[in-house]
Amino acid sequence: MLPTLEKASTSHLFSRIFADFLVVHTSLLAALVASWIRNAHAGSEMVMIGEAKSGIDQYFHLFLPLSLIFPAAFLLSGVYQDHVGWSLSRRIKSLIRGLAAGLIAFTSVSLALLPNSSLGSRSLLIFCVVMAVLLFTSRAGEWALLNAVRNRVKRPNLPGVERPVLVVGGAGHIGSLMVAELLRIGRKVRVLDSLLYGDGALRNVLQHPNLELVVGDCRNLQTAIRAVSGVDSVIHLAAIVGDPACEQDRQAALETNYAATRMLVEVAKGQGIQKFLFASSCSVYGASEELMNEHSTTVPISLYGQTKIDSERALLDSTDATFRPTIFRLATVFGLSPRPRFDLVVNLLTAKASTGSPITIFNGDQWRPFIHVSDVVRGFLMALDAPLAKVGGEIFNLGDNKLNHTLTDVAMTIARLFPEATVENAPTADRRNYRVSFDKIRTRIGFQCTKDLTFGIQEIRAAFEAREILDYTSYQYSNQKFLLIAGCPTSHGETDEKVMAAFSDAPKLASAAAAGS
Ligand SMILES: NC(=O)c1ccc[n+]([C@@H]2O[C@H](COP(=O)([O-])OP(=O)(O)OC[C@H]3O[C@@H](n4cnc5c(N)ncnc54)[C@H](O)[C@@H]3O)[C@@H](O)[C@H]2O)c1
Repeated sequence: MLPTLEKASTSHLFSRIFADFLVVHTSLLAALVASWIRNAHAGSEMVMIGEAKSGIDQYFHLFLPLSLIFPAAFLLSGVYQDHVGWSLSRRIKSLIRGLAAGLIAFTSVSLALLPNSSLGSRSLLIFCVVMAVLLFTSRAGEWALLNAVRNRVKRPNLPGVERPVLVVGGAGHIGSLMVAELLRIGRKVRVLDSLLYGDGALRNVLQHPNLELVVGDCRNLQTAIRAVSGVDSVIHLAAIVGDPACEQDRQAALETNYAATRMLVEVAKGQGIQKFLFASSCSVYGASEELMNEHSTTVPISLYGQTKIDSERALLDSTDATFRPTIFRLATVFGLSPRPRFDLVVNLLTAKASTGSPITIFNGDQWRPFIHVSDVVRGFLMALDAPLAKVGGEIFNLGDNKLNHTLTDVAMTIARLFPEATVENAPTADRRNYRVSFDKIRTRIGFQCTKDLTFGIQEIRAAFEAREILDYTSYQYSNQKFLLIAGCPTSHGETDEKVMAAFSDAPKLASAAAAGS
């Protein structure tokens, strides 16, 4: 195949060739008319008519067939090649090459066939100039039109749209769905992730032209600077997630969840980032019989919860006129994403029911707010597009009042959808118990959940029925099991350890981490 035809889309190629063919003929007719006017000026009416007839005759019998030389010359000079990635000067050079080759071939052949043609040297000059002007302006016009359409289709009225959104922890359960959705709506995305649990969740989007993946540890200062540099906003999700996973390696949890968050904040401030969205957790409320809102006292009862509340404080302390972070206290997540997790209560109980195991609920009276993973993504994206004045420097519980449930409610909902399932009760040491008000996020930015427990349970059941999930007990679906096998990565090198130590000054955390070690 000719190199010039590679990759070019056929329909675009033919319309381009046709447009250039029209340009050649417009230029040719302009040159012939100019020649006719000049010659006719000096002669009688009879001469004028004779010149016109001869010009028309030459046009149809000589110039029209010879004009096919131009598309051939353009084709061979790379004018119709796919120009993605070409610099402007390279494109202009290829067009000049094609034009020159076409003109030389056209003139030589027409002079050889008809030495006394109507196209004298002046007419040839007119032919060249008109053709060059039309070829370049038609391409510039096409480029401007395409750009205008692209910009309109992509993102109307959004500031900083050309700069990517940084998703730290973008390969995780929530992050991978967040990244897919950002790409779907046309945003540029940069992911910083250490791929603690692998890159499987991003595999479907890895080749996307709007995705940039920085594989690295957010505890590393150089990596953090590289990732934050040039982005529009930051969504920070990276963490060692869940109470049992944090207990696995308390030092790693302290560094990743708290110290690295503080460091990222400093880097983001240094880069002039204004929108910084942070994933905290409703588990900061600990155990309470009250309905908790954003002003309620927080009493985290685990290291995980403590790292989240200390990070929140650090974020709020760093708020100033130019840096206005938004903190989301997420309800307990359920549902499927490109990185499914079966260490989340609704997902785990549904997986058990799907595989015929009894549903065991521990302390069924405990209240917990729930949210589908896709609603978490919607909430973050609504905040990303909301005016900073509405969401900057604020804490929001992320969920919906109607999704506060006791664990018994969850089990009963599953049992309704799996009539054959058996439900068992068992005591546990887990004291978490909180009902949460989500009024603030509803009234401030109009957020409400769109998916309830039934939706999530049916979605998981369908995945089991389609055999998309074979063994939900596999370590890949559980943070704690995974880290038990693979171990938590330590911060690399002495420098990182010192940087992490400098950012790990939350007194309660430091003692908590030490107490566990
Ligand atoms: N899933 C929930 O129920 C829930 C509830 C409340 C809050 N949250 C918060 O939401 C966020 C995302 O949770 P998730 O469920 O997607 O968790 P996840 O464990 O699936 O994902 C965490 C991601 O962070 C990455 N990561 C971990 N340490 C890193 C490091 N040092 N450097 C770079 N990347 C690192 C991991 O590779 C992973 O891709 C977390 O901050 C979590 O605390 C989650």
